[in-house]
This record gives sequence, C-alpha cells and structure tokens, in this order.
Amino acid sequence: MLEYLNGRYLPRGEIAISPDDRGFLFSDGLYEVIRTYDGRLFQAQAHLDRLNYGARALRFNRVAFSYLTEVAQELIQRNDLTKGDSTVYIQVTRGVAPRTHHFPPPETPLTVYAAATPLLTRQAELERGINIIFVPDQRWARCDIKTVSLVANVLAHQQAQESNAIEAVFVRDGVVLEGTRSNFFAVLEEVVITPPKTNYILGGITRQVVLDLCKKLSIPCQQRPIFESEINQASELMIVGTTAEITPAVQINRQRVGLGKPGPITRFLQKAFREMVSSTS
Ligand code: PDD
Repeated sequence: MLEYLNGRYLPRGEIAISPDDRGFLFSDGLYEVIRTYDGRLFQAQAHLDRLNYGARALRFNRVAFSYLTEVAQELIQRNDLTKGDSTVYIQVTRGVAPRTHHFPPPETPLTVYAAATPLLTRQAELERGINIIFVPDQRWARCDIKTVSLVANVLAHQQAQESNAIEAVFVRDGVVLEGTRSNFFAVLEEVVITPPKTNYILGGITRQVVLDLCKKLSIPCQQRPIFESEINQASELMIVGTTAEITPAVQINRQRVGLGKPGPITRFLQKAFREMVSSTS
C-alpha cells in the first residue's frame, strides 16, 4: 500500500515516524476517519472542517487542511480502492521536537499522515443489530476534539469485547453521551433523540447526517440529554458513525431493547441513509 507522509507518497514499509513526534510522546494530535463508497469520499469537507476545528482548539500552527481531500483521492486511486468501500485515516500531530510539555517553536512543521484501507461492511450487524454496554465516562472534558488520545476509549471498548458486546457507550453522572467510536440515538415515544453537542461528545458527521435525514423525512427528532434512567423506556437504540453507519442496538447491558430486534424508525433511517449514500457521495 502507498501511504502519505508530509507531502510524499511512500510504500507503507518506508513510513517512519520519529520517536520525538509529539503524537507519540503526548498524543498531541488529531485524527479523522473518512469513508468511501466505491471510491467516492463521503462527507469529506465536513471531516476536514472538524479537523480545522480541532487544530484551532489545540492551537496548531496550521489550521487549513482542505488540501487533504486531494490527498485522500490520490490514495484511493493509487491503491486501487475505487471499487467497494474503504476508509481514509488521517492523523495530524504537533510535529517533531525534543520533549517539552509546552509547545515547540512555532515554525515546527506538523506531522501529516494519511492512509487508505479497504473496509468490510458489517452487514450482519446492520441487519440484526448489536449488543452494547454502558460504561462510566473516564475521558477528559474536551471530547468535542477528535484527538488521538484514545486510551479511555480503548479500555471501554475492550470491556465491551469481554462482555460480548460490539460497542461501549459512555455515561457521565447518569447522562448517556456517546459510544467509544460512535454517537448514540434513542427512540422514546416515537421521537428520535440524541444528546446535544457539548464538550462531552464528538460532533459526529454521521450524527448530523441522521439529524438532517430526520428533518427531511419529517421524523420528529430532538437534541436533548438522555438519562440512563429512561433507557428502559426506549423502543429503539442506534449507534451511528463513519464505520457503524446506522447500527441498531438490540441489547443494552444484556437487557432487550424494545422487542429485541431493529425497530421501524431505525430501518427507515437505514434505508434513507443508503439512498443518500448512493445519490450524493
Ligand atoms: N470514530 N464519537 C466518537 C468518540 C468517535 O470516535 C466517532 C468516530 C464518532 C462518530 O463520528 P463520525 O460520524 O464523524 O464518524 C462519535 C471513528 C470512526 C473512529 O475512531 O474510528
């Protein structure tokens, strides 16, 4: 595979990251995962806008990344990924410098890495739904920034794995927030509900697509806090994200959600999402 590092396309085996890279030393970096469908990038500009937002929040010396759309397209072409689905992973760190906690000199170039990888859609999960668990949120208070500092997510996802669940969803002070790699939606009394955008969740691109679809299809939807205590009244639950798309959650903490199978609103949204993907990406 050919990958991208700091302006060059190189075979994967020739990609070398310095041990002084601040991403390695401090997880002082950002990432994005962009999906492609048959080689077409899905919502690329929204992903790069979020990268810009993160770069401003972390006070990086460069905050314009629109050129990465071309890099992503190049990676898809050069790696022959124009058929089937894939993901383009992008990581940007504050660059290479001797280890100090404060920022390196302002002229230090950022490290910019990108790679495209084929993706197998988890068809069975989309069709049958998945088990999820709730876990206490032990992350920092800037979950709106997509940093590579993911160790709390790693621990939570491992816990899910060990509980035969596919995703762990963070709960903070009784409020359900988001998954380790997805946003969270519930259907309560026929209303599609997702937590509002705050510093405690990532402003997911798929989340916004789902909200837009609800609006377009006149499905009642609301952005408001979801309490753990009301989850047993939910008729449907979904986790949504670039790789998850819209995945029904049919069991939470080993308890059945609704009838224990994907519900009608989830199905309707999945279908609308598919149609949108084939018409606009
Ligand atoms: N994760 N919340 C978190 C914590 C995430 O890591 C992600 C995405 C999302 C969904 O965002 P989007 O719809 O923009 O993909 C929500 C990526 C896919 C990952 O870490 O692999």
